[in-house]
Amino acid sequence: MYEYLTQLSVVLRSGKNVDDIADSFSTTQYKSKKWLVDTLQKQTIVPNPSILIVGGWYGSYLIPLLQETLTPRHIYHNDLDSSVISTAKLLHQSNKNISFHEFDATKHSEKFHVDILINTSCEHMHTVGTHLVDNPNCLYVLQSCDNQNDPGHINISRTTDEFVTKTKLSTIVFCGRLPLGHKNRFMVMGYQEN
Ligand SMILES: C[S@@+](CC[C@H](N)C(=O)[O-])C[C@H]1O[C@@H](n2cnc3c(N)ncnc32)[C@H](O)[C@@H]1O
Repeated sequence: MYEYLTQLSVVLRSGKNVDDIADSFSTTQYKSKKWLVDTLQKQTIVPNPSILIVGGWYGSYLIPLLQETLTPRHIYHNDLDSSVISTAKLLHQSNKNISFHEFDATKHSEKFHVDILINTSCEHMHTVGTHLVDNPNCLYVLQSCDNQNDPGHINISRTTDEFVTKTKLSTIVFCGRLPLGHKNRFMVMGYQEN
């Protein structure tokens, strides 16, 4: 924890992406990621899972929360933005079980043999990332929202049901909505039969 805060101060002193990094540590970010991890802990998951995080941004809350609760074997952290990836590398550099992967998740063709795929940026993409995984038992953990006021939100959902349909998962083990004042966050967890 203290090591993480030390790294955060190094990142902030670099002066790059400071407002965006601050946004990633907002209260709504914390609520959304805590909801995810608390719900994930209640699912049947293999011990020390390998996890692919798609469109992971800086992983500000998600990575430490996952490390504390699931002790993952490995985290593959993806984002398409090179400056986001370099900041995330710096922020999490004391974690030896993380690798960083810069690619467009909607176009990438490499497959990852992971136990869990997490994509909390589904409102930014037209696909959720199931094509990136070659494990039929992978648990997909997906979040989206109904906030239309961000030009990056190219694929919002208006309801939980709409988001469930968009994910195209064949088995749903959880779906729900988290009201966050100015927007709703939706979450779907499930499996995809090949
Ligand atoms: C604003 S951030 C995170 C938003 C999300 N609501 C959350 O709370 O986690 C969205 C991230 O998705 C990344 N992103 C957008 N489209 C992507 C894509 N096609 N492949 C990979 N990363 C993508 C962006 O670079 C950005 O870092």
